[in-house]
Amino acid sequence: MFYDRELQAIKRANRYRKREIFGENLLDFASNDYLGLSKKRGLFKKACKRVLRYKFHSPKASTLVNGYHPIHKEFENYISKINGFEKATTLGSGFLANISLFEALPRRGDLLLFDEEFHASGLITKKMSEATVDIFKHNDYNDLKTKIKKFKNFSKSRVIIAVEGIYSMSGDMVKKEIFDIADSHNAILVVDEAHSVGIVGKHLLGIFEYYGIKPKKNHIKMGTLGKALGSYGAYILSSKEIYNYLCNRAKAIIYTTAPSIFDIALAHENFLYIEKNLQTIKNNIKKIKKITSDILGIKPKSLILPIELENSQQAIKLKQYLLSQGFIVGAIRPPTVKKPILRVILRLKEKKLKKLLRIIQSEVLS
Ligand SMILES: Cc1ncc(COP(=O)(O)O)c(C=O)c1O
Repeated sequence: MFYDRELQAIKRANRYRKREIFGENLLDFASNDYLGLSKKRGLFKKACKRVLRYKFHSPKASTLVNGYHPIHKEFENYISKINGFEKATTLGSGFLANISLFEALPRRGDLLLFDEEFHASGLITKKMSEATVDIFKHNDYNDLKTKIKKFKNFSKSRVIIAVEGIYSMSGDMVKKEIFDIADSHNAILVVDEAHSVGIVGKHLLGIFEYYGIKPKKNHIKMGTLGKALGSYGAYILSSKEIYNYLCNRAKAIIYTTAPSIFDIALAHENFLYIEKNLQTIKNNIKKIKKITSDILGIKPKSLILPIELENSQQAIKLKQYLLSQGFIVGAIRPPTVKKPILRVILRLKEKKLKKLLRIIQSEVLS
């Protein structure tokens, strides 16, 4: 009654979405559970034990009232130390973390520059920002440089740049030059590592580690716990100064209940598991990339394989066909992406992965 027109328009454009529960036995090549941690019951039990050491298992209040729990603090100390940042803040989700950052960091007169493929949780803040917000072409450091220089010609205010470590839809990596540009212009660089933690770097810590970049005062890293980390939540790593500022200014940190204690405990256990099984996990990732390259002739930089399609109808049809073969993959349509894609998350089970890639090769790519 209230939104008929809008819903009809979405349907006409083949963009209508609905929530569905898929069978547990489908082969999962759609979710962001890159390392398969969501099935590890032993780690779940360990996290329960960690929580049961304390009298309270619910966060109950904002971290700025009395919701801050030793489990949050223990994880924050751990995560900041292994990443070489001064401070960490845990948050309820990556979406909330990006809202926190981009609502609080750019002030009136500042310039906030997003890569055009930045996640919706960042771009949504354009509407609430007091700063000038602009978009630079995807991974185009020359376009970024031009935009910064233009701004600096008439302003001494802050510049904040927002990029992803590995882009959630295209699966490509942020260019290293963007770090250099941020440093040379004394700009704050926010790196959303939702899809790079657990996937790249010597210890699978993400893109800073992959490029060998030591965190500096102008660097902020946002990591999520709901993807490779097999839990739910997020963390922001930064300098002490930015940490103190966020705790005092970021509304989505101050005016929200502290993150789930259990989810943070689970993420902590899962990080320790990755540390312990590092070599096996890295070997598996290497194997996945080799299988993909052998079958499709595509060398993936990450575990996200986007297969570009003609139109949304084709995306839906292919997804349905793969479902009938026992596989679930993502069929991502505009406006999430410019052109519809099958978003395949490359995961091991070797035989199943090979079968899926062969179907994709014959049904789409040949
Ligand atoms: C790049 C990126 N940033 C942030 C988020 C939001 O994270 P969360 O799912 O923890 O809210 C996502 C989730 O899809 C993402 O892909």
